[in-house]
Amino acid sequence: MSNKIFIDACLGKETPYTPVWMMRQAGRYLPDYQAVRAEAGSFLDLCHDPEKACEVSLQPVDIVGVDAAIMFSDILVVPDEMGMDLSFVKGEGPKFSDPIKNEDDLDRLRGGEEAADRLSYVYDTIKLIKKRLPEDKALIGFMGAPWTLATYMIEGQGTKTYNICKKMMYTNPALLHKVLAKVTEVLKFYMSKQIESGVDVVQIFDSWAAAIEPNKYDEFSWKYMIEISEYLKSKYPDIPVILFAKGITGFLEQGKVYGNFDVFGVDWGTPMELAKEKLGDKYVLQGNMEPCRLYSKEATTESIEQIQKIMNGKRHIFNLGHGILPDVPVENAKHFISECHRVSGKK
Ligand code: CP3
Repeated sequence: MSNKIFIDACLGKETPYTPVWMMRQAGRYLPDYQAVRAEAGSFLDLCHDPEKACEVSLQPVDIVGVDAAIMFSDILVVPDEMGMDLSFVKGEGPKFSDPIKNEDDLDRLRGGEEAADRLSYVYDTIKLIKKRLPEDKALIGFMGAPWTLATYMIEGQGTKTYNICKKMMYTNPALLHKVLAKVTEVLKFYMSKQIESGVDVVQIFDSWAAAIEPNKYDEFSWKYMIEISEYLKSKYPDIPVILFAKGITGFLEQGKVYGNFDVFGVDWGTPMELAKEKLGDKYVLQGNMEPCRLYSKEATTESIEQIQKIMNGKRHIFNLGHGILPDVPVENAKHFISECHRVSGKK
């Protein structure tokens, strides 16, 4: 047993209650985040400032009472340090000025350890958090899945249709695979360096998994996540790996989930019963309350009780089924955490 209930739960050990955290817990719904973010200047300035990034990572632990901190950063700092020029345009979200259109664009980008070494501000943030985080709380490191990162690198921004990267998928799959393989190489170094800097567990976010048809999902996303996970599990067997892919119910129903990792993150559109039936023996399940239930305390309690009835405190971590939204009242986020603890028997 470790001294961290969150890590024990990730490894499938019995715990006195079910631990809980929230995806995107360090963010805009917290006025305390807004204050530090305003002091920092831009969002990227905040990512580049380990002292302030550490402060906002610890806020959800201190304010809402989660069982694990997630280091504050963003999935897109990786392509930024590979040499793509990232900016956040107010009201419009992330933008890359020069998206990848052909092989030359890709070849110009930094790869492997050279790119990963430039993310030293992330490693410095982790070291600071480790010094200040209470011993019984875990620190989560993270990365975007190669596919989710590639959607931004190829489209240049967020997209509703994914038509540019899907055009590449069906007309020039070799180039898309080359992009995915280059990103995968960087991510192996990046995650190793996060672990060596002190994170206790890592999560891979495949937020835009649902853009890929189930028959192509393994080829263009899952297998790259598993390549990274299996690389990490062979190098650091004690560090749990959590995979969160949003919108892959079809892939799951077809029985196609495989590979060496510890925790499967269940998104809010996938019934917990289905995830338990298909994957509950092999993986610990994380999730999966619909994040908009946080607007109502009654709807929150109802969902937590339903999930608890299915999982019964075994091989489970409470979480939302995707990120918390910026206009959720802090009080309701606290209610979510305390209700997860209550129903699972925290004294
Ligand atoms: O609390 C945490 O989860 C840690 C920090 C974190 C951020 N982004 C901070 C952030 C994490 C884990 C992410 C991951 C991330 N970033 C994902 C995957 C997670 C998911 O929700 O599916 C994605 C797709 C991104 C890309 C990205 N970064 C987007 C789409 C945006 C929002 C743009 C906007 O203005 O709405 C960001 C910016 C971002 N990342 C913010 C935060 C707190 C908001 C920026 C701000 O403070 O102005």
